[in-house]
Order: sequence, then structure tokens, then C-alpha cells
Amino acid sequence: SLLIFSSLCILLVESKTIIEAKQSVRKFPDGFIFGAATASYQIEGGWDADGKTENIWDHMTHKEPCLIADCSNGDVADDSYNLYKRDVEMMRELGLQFYRFSLSWNRILPTSFPDKINEAGVQYYNNLINEMLKYNIEPMITLYHWDLPQKLQDMGGWANPHIVDWFADYARVAFENFGDRVKYWITMNEPREVCYQGYGDVTKAPRLNMKGIGEYMCAKNLLVAHAKAYDIYDKEFREKWGGTVGITLSATWHEPEGDMDADLAETINQFEWGQYAHPIFSETGDFPPIMKEMIAAKSAEQGFYRSRLPEFTPEELELVRGSSDFLGINHYSTFLVRKIDERDSFEVPSYWDDMEIVGYQPEEWEGGASSWLKVVPSGFYKLLHRLRELYDNPPIMITENGFSTRGGLEDDNRVSYYRLYLDAMLDAMDEGCDVIGYAAWSLMDNFEWMQGYTERFGLYEVDYSSPERTRTPRKAAFVYKEILRSRSLDP
Ligand code: NOJ
Repeated sequence: SLLIFSSLCILLVESKTIIEAKQSVRKFPDGFIFGAATASYQIEGGWDADGKTENIWDHMTHKEPCLIADCSNGDVADDSYNLYKRDVEMMRELGLQFYRFSLSWNRILPTSFPDKINEAGVQYYNNLINEMLKYNIEPMITLYHWDLPQKLQDMGGWANPHIVDWFADYARVAFENFGDRVKYWITMNEPREVCYQGYGDVTKAPRLNMKGIGEYMCAKNLLVAHAKAYDIYDKEFREKWGGTVGITLSATWHEPEGDMDADLAETINQFEWGQYAHPIFSETGDFPPIMKEMIAAKSAEQGFYRSRLPEFTPEELELVRGSSDFLGINHYSTFLVRKIDERDSFEVPSYWDDMEIVGYQPEEWEGGASSWLKVVPSGFYKLLHRLRELYDNPPIMITENGFSTRGGLEDDNRVSYYRLYLDAMLDAMDEGCDVIGYAAWSLMDNFEWMQGYTERFGLYEVDYSSPERTRTPRKAAFVYKEILRSRSLDP
């Protein structure tokens, strides 16, 4: 009987290990889709090819080349304007289910007049889309990934309320021309970077440096423009083509430095991504209450008769509320936060600084080539958890996530970043977060905005010294491929 008892024990222990092992299997659910992402200005080149005119990045980099770290630009970039077939081949090599790319507004409407369509520009995207569809790779189009026609910038760009109509006209042209084959649409990429960095600061074109004024005018107009495009799809195309339309926000996670700082972290999250998510995804719509209160109070203190944060009209509020079928999230990293104090060497609080909160990352955190990119997978999990809580568990598409290096094919740190972040995402999904897809940033190295070609995010390395812009898979490409093939993170 001792023998029976001990073998029973062994059996019990064994089955427990089997159950435990089962639970740790990291499988992606059926229906979950994997892809990779890029953006027009960052990869296409062909900056003045076949009728394309100048956008704000062409304009800025041509005028002042050395604003960019390596004094480079996107004139040729990865030359995807000519090499799109190789791009699609790479998608096939990786086994991607979808590919997220953006349209160059100037390529399609070089004069910005919606009735003057540049057929060559439309043809380029038709070629790309048709090539992808041959191999069952689903196209996901971003309408606006930062390359505004310079002509429209000259009229005030996103700070001019008329941009709502300019963008709506452009969106309609895109839906009309590609909507029969394209089912995933993203109106805007990272409004916060567009408005804060481009209008509030000098870290993205057009570098207007209108903190606390231009940035909020931009935010409001951009949200209404997004909503108008959504509405157009809804009314004119959805029934016929049945696609889905969303918006992509950059969502960095902010974590309190100490217990006392929980409110600060929440505030900065609300300013950064809540600013765009709350008007669309919350039940009440509008900018987050905390943001409205703080800016109104500051504005009064500064002697303004009204808040610097523009108001939505009741019609605009209604138009914006609910104007997304899914929430696109670009997530890379996490910051700690604390109140601005004497440790901060910059002049604070600046006149327009509405939060008086700083985000920072401890030196010892491991990171990529980009100064802001530290590896904190738990922040990804917490972000997804919070989005679920705040906006009633919306369908979330991870439209970007990835890691930068200075180059080289042996990118073990990128491999480990992807594995850790995908694992954190699965934890959130296990808990019930409705994450429906994931795109790696990026399919290949590309023009990393102010950093030029000094920071590399590609699954494929691009050789910029070769006229052919040779693309070579990195180790991470092979690992990503295997994850997609097995649909799991298990070795
Ligand atoms: C987000 C932007 O959408 C993309 O254009 C950029 O290259 C990546 N972040 C990496 O910084």
C-alpha cells in the first residue's frame, strides 16, 4: 500500500506540473492578427516623383538640413516608391497577416484641391495594395502620419479650423480609391506628437513652439477632422464595403515615483493620451475633466478671460464621441513622474506649463538607442489594464511597438524586447483586455524623424550606402516569424 500511495503521490505531482505548464503556454487566440508598420515619409522616398509636391518634412529638411541628427532627409529614404515589391516579399517572408502603411497626402492631391487627383500617386498605392492582396496580406492604411502638404501648413495647418474640411475631402478621396480593397483605416497617427511636438514645441515639423496655445488649437481641430472622416466613412462607404475605422494614439505609461505621486501620474496620462482618448472613447466625450480644470485655472491665473483650451460646440462633441471602431495604440515605454522641483535644471514652471509635472526615466533602466525607449514591459500591461477600465474595454489594435538600436543583425536586445512586451500584452489579454492585433514597428529601418537614420527600428536592416537599399533580416525578424508561425511565445 505504501507503493500505491507513493505512486499516487508521484502521479499527483506530475499532473500538477502538467497543469502548471499548460497555464504558462503563451498562445495567441484565434482571430488575433499580426503585422508590421511603416509610414510614407519614413520609407517612400520619391519626394518629387511623378507630380508629388512638398510636405512639411520635405520643406523643413530642405531648408534646414542639420535640424536632423545626421543632416539627412526622406528624399530617397528606403526607396519604397520603387522597391515596394521587395517590401511585400519581406511581409511574406515574415508571414505577416497585415501591413500598416500610410498615404502621402501630397502624392495623391499635390495641389490639395480634392478634384485634382494625381493618378500616378493613386497608381503607386494601387500597385502596393494589389501586390499585398495577391498574397493575402491585409492592408491597413493610416491617412495622416505627419506629412502635411506644405501648402496647407502655409494656411495654418492643424491650427486652422478649416483643416476639418481639407482632411475630410482628402479622406473621401482615399476611401473612394482604395476602400474596395482596404478594410482597416486609421485616420491619424499620434495626435499628441503632431500637436505637442509640432505646434507646442520644436521637436517635429513644423516646429511652431506655441506651447499651451497652438498645441490645443491643433488638438481640437485634429479631433474634429478625425471625427468628420469617420462620419464620412460611416455614411458613404461602410454599408458598401464594411471596413473599420479607428485612430492611433501614442500611449506612454506614466508611473508614480512614490505613493504620493499617484495623482500626478494619472494627470500626466490624462494630458498625454486622455486628451485624445477621452473625447472619443469616454461616455461623456470632451477633453478629460482634469485637463479642462487645470488649464482653465492656469489661464485665469495668467489673466486670460477664457481658457486657452478651446471648447467643442455641442455638435462637435457629438460628432467626436464614439467616432472610432477600435483604439489604435502605439506603445514603447514608461516614465516615472514627480512634481517639478529644484532638481530640474530647466526653467520651471514655464508660463505655459499646465501640469508642472515631469516625467523621467532612471539611468539604470535598460534601454534602446532612442533616449526615451527604456524596457519596462510591466508598463505595457498596466496601460492596457487602465484603458480597459477607463473606456469600457474597447477593441485595441497595437499599431506600433518596437525597439531601436544603432544597427547590426545580431539584435538580441530587440528580440528580448519583443518577447517581453508580447508576454505583458498576453497577461492583459488573459485578464480580459480586448486586444485584437499587433504590429511591430518597424518592417524595416527608416527615417526616424529628427534622429534621421541614426536610430534603427527595423526587423530588416536597410543598407543606406547601397543604391539598392538592400534589406537584410535581423535575428528579430526570424524570431518574429517563428512567433507568428507558431502563434505562441513558447520556444
Ligand atoms: C511612433 C511614430 O508613429 C513613428 O513614426 C516612429 O518612427 C516611432 N514612434 C518610433 O519613434
